[in-house]
Amino acid sequence: MDTEPKFFETNPTAGVVGQPLNRVDGRDKVMGRAKYSAEFNNLPGLVHAVLKTSDVAKGRITGFDTTAALKQPGVLAIITHQNIPKLAKTPNDAEGKKAIGAPMGYLPLTDDRIHYAGQPVAVIVADTLERAQYAAALLRVQVAAEKPLASYEDPKAQLFDPTKIQDGKTQAHVVRGNAQTAFAAAPIQLTHKYTHAINHHNPMEPGATTAHWEAPDRLTVYESTQGVTRTQKALSTMLGLSAEQVRVVTKYLGGGFGCKGSCWPHTVLTVQAAKFVGRPVKLSLTRPQMFTSMGHREDQTQTLRLGATNDGKLTALIHEKTSTTSPWDNYAESNSKIVNMLYECPNFEASYQLARANVMTSTFTRAPGEAPGSFALESSMDDLAYQLGIDPIEIRLRNYAEKDPSTGQPWSSKSLRQCYARGAELFGWSKRNPKAGATRNGRLLVGWGMATASYPVHNSQGMARARLYADGHAVVQSGATDLGTGTYTVMTQVAAEALGLPVEKVRFELGDTKLPTAPNSGGSVAAGTVSSSVYMAVQDLWQKLIKVAVLDKKSPLYRAKLTDVEAKAGRLQLKANPKKGEGFAALMKRADMADVEGNGQGRYGSGYEDAQAAANADPAKKDEAAHHSMHSFGAHFCEVQVDPDLGTVRVTRWVSVHGAGRILNAKTARSQIIGGSIFGIGAALMEGTVRDQNLARYTNASLADYHIPVNADIPDMTVEFIEEHDPYINAMGVKGIGEISMVGVSAAVANAVFHATGKRVRELPITPDKIL
Ligand code: MOS
Repeated sequence: MDTEPKFFETNPTAGVVGQPLNRVDGRDKVMGRAKYSAEFNNLPGLVHAVLKTSDVAKGRITGFDTTAALKQPGVLAIITHQNIPKLAKTPNDAEGKKAIGAPMGYLPLTDDRIHYAGQPVAVIVADTLERAQYAAALLRVQVAAEKPLASYEDPKAQLFDPTKIQDGKTQAHVVRGNAQTAFAAAPIQLTHKYTHAINHHNPMEPGATTAHWEAPDRLTVYESTQGVTRTQKALSTMLGLSAEQVRVVTKYLGGGFGCKGSCWPHTVLTVQAAKFVGRPVKLSLTRPQMFTSMGHREDQTQTLRLGATNDGKLTALIHEKTSTTSPWDNYAESNSKIVNMLYECPNFEASYQLARANVMTSTFTRAPGEAPGSFALESSMDDLAYQLGIDPIEIRLRNYAEKDPSTGQPWSSKSLRQCYARGAELFGWSKRNPKAGATRNGRLLVGWGMATASYPVHNSQGMARARLYADGHAVVQSGATDLGTGTYTVMTQVAAEALGLPVEKVRFELGDTKLPTAPNSGGSVAAGTVSSSVYMAVQDLWQKLIKVAVLDKKSPLYRAKLTDVEAKAGRLQLKANPKKGEGFAALMKRADMADVEGNGQGRYGSGYEDAQAAANADPAKKDEAAHHSMHSFGAHFCEVQVDPDLGTVRVTRWVSVHGAGRILNAKTARSQIIGGSIFGIGAALMEGTVRDQNLARYTNASLADYHIPVNADIPDMTVEFIEEHDPYINAMGVKGIGEISMVGVSAAVANAVFHATGKRVRELPITPDKIL
């Protein structure tokens, strides 16, 4: 029939899902049509806000001199703790923080205290950005400064075990078996200390907020966030409004890496400023402000003790972590989780301690916990391999975990053996001279290193809506966000395949709290949760049409049993006799249906029932989901060339192979892994924010001084995926790849540096001074 659209095959492994489709939003981005959160410039009466921040890290504000600033033309307001509108709730007390879901237990401009350098002390609003900036420069803030604490390394810092202050509970102090005794008895004992510099996320797009009060009790916020719903919850709670009164929109994001995973103070202040001046207000953080506004990866030391037998079998792992936190919060990345689950080891113990200092609260930074945790574990595994003269891959195979050692549960799927084998093959690992410091390229030292990666599948759930029009196009929606990594594209593919439509006929919309709720794009949950939601929404829509078909006398499916009918490639047909059926367009035309809508809830990690519907799993195994440990796994292989005279390290080859469930788009997935690996190479070799130990201020808070890899630092990278069909994860079998891409990366680099030079560097970043 001519009116029938052309259909893709819906076989989930052979259709458009998985294909290297170009980004559906690519054209809008390069044409400048994609609107980021600071680009909604047509709002009526839009004005500009800038933050005045504190240069000192600790003290008390004793006064403001606003005279000169207020005299400037165009200046609308100088908002300080003395005149800012009161909020219904703030995160300043524990209960409020919990209700709000704010990352930080202190909101600036609530009192006269200064707790960290870069803390906002005033918001200046003017009719142009330049006038606001100028007025901010003229504003004088009088401060009684006090001596700050800069980090846990300060002799005056007081270390405490945060698990002890929560009713003596020891949830972070994990004990499995008897690690202390086993370590003491182990023939091989390694004890090493690892330090990790402070890292900042530095997404291309800074934190940005455009706040528009459309009515006294109705707010729309265009926000640079990884989660519109989380931001909506935080703002509505603080403002004392219902969620429905606060709309959050994030159409495009220029990266986030975790720093946009929470609602930070600048967003709240912009909303308050808009209320104060009665006009829409836009605020965009400056690059230096990005170092003190949206968290960071904390400065930290890990001590890892590893006990093993003479044939390289682990008998004990003891992990301790110390890091700096803010005056109010106990946040620390949970590095020990990966140490607990990556290898078979009967005895494990982990503890951590914190010290309060005059810094803002640290936060999720790509692969929070797993990235630095794997640096310690995978460096020590490399030590073990050298000490025993065993190949680094072989030492890992000898400790291969057939089930999750931390829980005893079987894996839902695990392809790590294949990752090692394929990675080694692609890299040419078998040609490696096992001796460290023995391979040269001219005067350069050549080193090959590898490391394991893993990341958990976190529990999550979300929703989507799919509307199919009789004329063969569709709109599919979910309130997810696209960090720039391809959510728009992969969800279009999933919807197109499930609907049996060409991708050009499907529009996927996201980034708006008016759409069905989706989780934060964080913790690698978005791809799996949202794709499953989309898939389920389309199934719901087909069920509605099937009901129409079996009641329609003119349908070939008239009086068929609902359970006997399936939807395939946009056609409703009998399962037993696929020839008997019809396309949706003919059916909808007869029924005079302009469109049909379905809703779906995708569950992640625990979505066994969804998985069952999708994968036709064995009903007898219905309860198994809860008994599976769900992780993705991978392996990185790195070649470095080290200049022995200059101490410079250059990564010259890279291979990553991952098993991460179904891959939704070969091109965007490859880009994800490349991006994450580069992020990890940055942490390994260059990135580090230096906090002055006297002033508690960052000395290199700019992209001129905080070094990140550029194109010239990165070789061509080889990325492959092992095909996995995991029936336990979710309806689409997607594990997510955002975080795993950088787990193990810094260890792979450090291990390659050791192989090149014979020098083990346990302090990141591995700068030339540590090589020489
Ligand atoms: Mo990711 S660090 O949870 O955005």
